[in-house]
Amino acid sequence: MATSGEHLIDKNNLPQHIAFIMDGNGRWAKKRGKPRTFGHAEGAKVFERIVEKAGDIGIPHLTFYAFSTENWKRPKQEVDTIMQLLRDYLKTGFRKIEHKDVRINVIGDLTGLAPDLQEEVHKLMERTKDRKKMIVNLALNYGGRDEIVRAVKKMVEEAEGGISPEDITDAALSAHMDTYLSPDPDLIVRPSGEYRLSNFLIWQCAYAEFWFSDILWPDFSEKDLVDCILAYQGRNRRYGGV
Ligand code: IPE
Ligand code: IPE
Ligand code: MG
Repeated sequence: MATSGEHLIDKNNLPQHIAFIMDGNGRWAKKRGKPRTFGHAEGAKVFERIVEKAGDIGIPHLTFYAFSTENWKRPKQEVDTIMQLLRDYLKTGFRKIEHKDVRINVIGDLTGLAPDLQEEVHKLMERTKDRKKMIVNLALNYGGRDEIVRAVKKMVEEAEGGISPEDITDAALSAHMDTYLSPDPDLIVRPSGEYRLSNFLIWQCAYAEFWFSDILWPDFSEKDLVDCILAYQGRNRRYGGV
């Protein structure tokens, strides 16, 4: 079904990669007198809807920030519930979007996840690896600085004969990032009224456009997706030129 404003989208100027910081779940739940974890469950449903809509519009790459390397600081009960939600999703939930020809690439330090979760993540990535229409990067235990450190370590480990200064290039680093399957994001979407990156894609967003909003993630709608694409299409990207 068409969303209001969708007909205004210029299909020849679509962002090729949109990245979302799924923030505001806790405040959304609190406003309704519910536990924060209720907001996380609702936020997961929005994730599915946005993947579907972005697929229909024709956006080939998406990234979603689901759990940061810093989110372990939260109360154990909240972290446990988020991990359980993930477990359920990895086992069954993703099937709703998988039929859309979506390849799921989980990014972040997977070794920090519980062993059973790591196994489910690997199964999901293996099961979807030949899907072609869309790549969805899902950031779990993800931190931008951590990703850069791991990328450098990978480069050093791979270069068995030793690494020389000329091997360290922009392209080589990009190829060792967790997001190597996707181009740099054209658009970063941060709802929830915060104006920061919170350690998200700090290498990749060198020339990204930003879209901020007070909307809390569980309220983020298909219409908001259309709005941010239209806002993006109104931007003048100069990349340092004129
Ligand atoms: C984002 O929502 C989800 C995670 C970080 C896991 P929050 O839980 O940060 O919600 P707020 O920002 O406290 O409202
Ligand atoms: C960013 O949200 C991380 C995710 C959405 C997964 P946070 O709620 O952790 O960010 P801060 O703490 O407000 O910067
Ligand atoms: Mg938050």
